Amino acid sequence: MESNDFKRHIAVTGGAGFIGSNLLLLLVPRYPDDFFVNIDALTYAGNLSNLATIEGADNYRFERLDITEPEAVRECFRRYKFDGVIHLAAESHVDRSILGPEAFVRTNVLGTANLLEAARAQEHSVRFVHVSTDEVFGSLEQVGKFTAESPYRPSSPYAASKAAADHLVRAYHRTYGMETIITNCSNNFGPYQFPEKLIPLVIRNAVAGKPIPVYGNGLQRRDWLFVRDHCEALDRAFRRGRSGATYLAGADTDITNIDLIRRLCRALDARLGGTPREQLITHVTDRPGHDYRYALDVSSLREELEWRPQCTFDEALEATIDWYLTHEDWLAACDSGVYREYYEQNYANR
Ligand code: NAD
Ligand code: TYD
Repeated sequence: MESNDFKRHIAVTGGAGFIGSNLLLLLVPRYPDDFFVNIDALTYAGNLSNLATIEGADNYRFERLDITEPEAVRECFRRYKFDGVIHLAAESHVDRSILGPEAFVRTNVLGTANLLEAARAQEHSVRFVHVSTDEVFGSLEQVGKFTAESPYRPSSPYAASKAAADHLVRAYHRTYGMETIITNCSNNFGPYQFPEKLIPLVIRNAVAGKPIPVYGNGLQRRDWLFVRDHCEALDRAFRRGRSGATYLAGADTDITNIDLIRRLCRALDARLGGTPREQLITHVTDRPGHDYRYALDVSSLREELEWRPQCTFDEALEATIDWYLTHEDWLAACDSGVYREYYEQNYANR
């Protein structure tokens, strides 16, 4: 089948990353009449093996492309005449943004600007979903939740670059009438997450008997959202979301980092036996500008788009641990020189 035999053409940027892979694995078989193009530069965080089961699907294609290159982006849009864009490509890790903000400005700000310009240049209207983060709103105290009206107060260079991208997307809606939707989600977890992020890093180190680094006192609180529930929310936002709207996506999980880490250790002890892994917990120097707490009011996603998380935090955490324990090869493949260099830089002198 040719790509123009399909009803709609949808670009998914960052489709080889953690959330993008989970999203494509959901959407490609679910919508056989739509044609999906995965636009990804394959940085350290992109892994095409995640997508092996859809690689040969008639309605899927991969385009290796760096979104910071405006002409390449424009050419790709001209070729496929996209009707929709689900934009996930980004530099996504806060600690890396502290070590070197430049790549974050380039990909997250400039890359988003290039996609918006290419979408604006199309002859027909393009629906543009920008997948953003709750970190644009900064940090909460003990109580309260962010709403879509909360002021932007990003703390890290990562959060600031995502905030800038959100502002550009909103400006394209207001100035050019582009059909845009912004989703701001909380911390995702689940299969295919790169082991620089807390949950896979803890599992990896705990299994290997390595120190488990806890930033500061570990009392910071996060709202953990299972990636498959998040992808269902993105599907709804793309298909049914109101143009110009912002949807917040979270799961109401309010747990301190240290409690989460202890829970992971105990779950691994129960499966693997051996010396209690809590002994590996090591408090290290805190992250500069570390946000204390995130929590989100998800009522518009629930009420307008009738979205609910499908599994409990416990079920999702168990499924995630099982996934990592049965995908040691996947984890081992992340352990490149690039990863080791980053790990050394981030953790050596804390
Ligand atoms: P990830 O780091 O796992 O994947 C990012 C993907 O983008 C990779 O496949 C990478 O190759 C690709 N990419 C990076 N730079 C690129 C470029 N210049 N051109 C083309 N492709 C490029 O990220 P993720 O965790 O899957 O996050 C996806 C999106 O969701 C990001 O925009 C992130 O800001 C947002 N988000 C993530 C979380 C989370 O908890 N993971 C939370 C809130 C928001
Ligand atoms: P992370 O997974 O990096 O997500 P984010 O910074 O986007 O919330 O970190 C989640 C929390 O865990 C955050 O409060 C920082 C903390 N953390 C540690 O304590 N140790 C670690 O090694 C990492 C990576 C994170």
